[in-house]
Amino acid sequence: MCGIVGYVGDHQPDARPLEVVLEGLRRLEYRGYDSAGVALVTGAGGLATAKKAGKLANLVAELDARPLPGATAGIGHTRWATHGGPTDVNAHPHVAGGVALIHNGIVENFAVLKEELLADGAELLSETDTEVVAHLLQRAYAEVKDLGEAMRLVVRRLHGTFTLLAVHEDHPDTVVGARHDSPLVVGLGDGANYLGSDVAAFIAETRRALELAQDQVVVITPRSVTVTDFDGNPAEGREYTIDWDAAAAEKGGFRSFMEKEIADQPQAVQDTLLGRTDTHGRLVLDDLKIDESVLRAADKIIVIACGTAAYSGHVAKYAIEHWCRIPVEVELAHEFRYRDPILTERTLVVAISQSGETMDTLMAVRHAREQGAKVLAICNTHGSTIPRESDAVLYTHAGPEVAVASTKAFLAQITAAYLLGLYLAQLRGNKFADEIAEILDDLRAMPEKIQEVLDRSGRVREIARWMADTSSVLFLGRHVGFPVALEGALKLKEIAYIHAEGFAAGELKHGPIALIEPGQPVFVIVPSPRGRDSLHSKVVSNIQEIRARGARTLVIAEDGDEAVKAYADEVFFVPQSPTLLAPLLSVVPLQIFACELATARGLDVDQPRNLAKSVTVE
Ligand code: F6R
Repeated sequence: MCGIVGYVGDHQPDARPLEVVLEGLRRLEYRGYDSAGVALVTGAGGLATAKKAGKLANLVAELDARPLPGATAGIGHTRWATHGGPTDVNAHPHVAGGVALIHNGIVENFAVLKEELLADGAELLSETDTEVVAHLLQRAYAEVKDLGEAMRLVVRRLHGTFTLLAVHEDHPDTVVGARHDSPLVVGLGDGANYLGSDVAAFIAETRRALELAQDQVVVITPRSVTVTDFDGNPAEGREYTIDWDAAAAEKGGFRSFMEKEIADQPQAVQDTLLGRTDTHGRLVLDDLKIDESVLRAADKIIVIACGTAAYSGHVAKYAIEHWCRIPVEVELAHEFRYRDPILTERTLVVAISQSGETMDTLMAVRHAREQGAKVLAICNTHGSTIPRESDAVLYTHAGPEVAVASTKAFLAQITAAYLLGLYLAQLRGNKFADEIAEILDDLRAMPEKIQEVLDRSGRVREIARWMADTSSVLFLGRHVGFPVALEGALKLKEIAYIHAEGFAAGELKHGPIALIEPGQPVFVIVPSPRGRDSLHSKVVSNIQEIRARGARTLVIAEDGDEAVKAYADEVFFVPQSPTLLAPLLSVVPLQIFACELATARGLDVDQPRNLAKSVTVE
């Protein structure tokens, strides 16, 4: 939700700041693509800006037509609109006097501040909350003549969420930043420093990063990074090395990032499983700041997450309840927080988030901790806010996920949830060591099976292309197949803009079956016939019910399940696996289906309309 990048380097004014900032924006564009803009501090002691509605390509075309002068520092922004439509005028940066400022978040008290500025004679051009902050900063700077101090004065007046970056025409060697409930990281270079909403902003330049805490102001020059809290007290960030490189965030020959990330899934699962056992074969988790006795005593687990991450939580529920015999609830983070949930010190809250910055999930984490619950985060982004604020972390190792639609992070989240379930079973004595080892072996076999699903994807791609004009697709599943159905529908909605619904197969006859008319395509995720037999036969009956009403059935079934063939218009077989682990396989054809169909429709699968990768507003 808005991408932010800042650069300052120790050199004569030249093209480098613009190059670095544009490269950063290219890598951050998945965070928002309603508009893009840059501001540079030029050698002549002036500011140069350019901004354009629409995708980054529009800004690049503008810069080609009207090049900016050389510079020593720069900031850049890619926007997901909140206040004010996606127009050139509302695009960031916003300039006030010698200040140029960019913003991610929402300033909730902007109306009051705007009134105050207008009464004082300020001329505001846009409808944004950000321009108000630019004017406040310009006025504060005029008083104190220190950019860091001016920023501290301003942020203390703001309510809401924000990451702010600013430059001033009098300071060609400085970029100032501030964060409150929105992400900001520092990149440490040699004779140059960087700021970004996430490390992708500067991964092409450096893998050394500095994590900032909430409510901090940072001033970077080419050779210094100064961090304080909002009151000016010195603070220090935590330095770390980014464990992936720029190549990991490139398409690598695939048509889209989504296609590449689907193909990355065997690796994502394998890396998430790597190094999880100690020398005695016992499971260990990362960064566990909770006493094991607390986990042993937990009498309820509540999983909080949004979107795809929440569906991984649904899969977790089946596995954890089965293995550990602890009740697990799964709740959308934005609902959880406002319903006065019952939390005690024996409740373990598991927050699942790829980005670690989803505001709804972050707020739910804070609420849970305020109520005395312990929070364990499952997260893909090191140093992000949710793991920082949690009592324990289990990192997924999916690598950078760039496509807006989540794929490899989903599989990695499910894998991490299995690990958590097994860890709890080990700790609480619900399972013997050899039982856990057996399930771990099954898990370790999954990457190869996922690869097999990928290798067999020709037919599902063909069907997807053939169905490019379809207007509605339904998805049915039972047990762990139910969240898979929900995820299959979400993928299709978000990237192909097709009406899609996922249902629990048993629910169909309670209403949704009325939707079935001749030709209606329905994906059905069929559980293993080797598992609980009743489950398999119930789903086969559900297929018959819809087929009798004319549905076109597209069935995902396990190798060897000959029984479904008679009822399916099309079967996509996946390798055999234990029932609880099957979502790692059955969701893959659905991801491929959505990606291929959206591509066939000529859509931008990586940057679907109205969406942004990291939802940092509530
Ligand atoms: C869907 C998708 C979203 C995210 C959700 C949570 O493809 O990507 O539904 O899963 O916004 O995001 P994180 O996991 O970053 O908290």
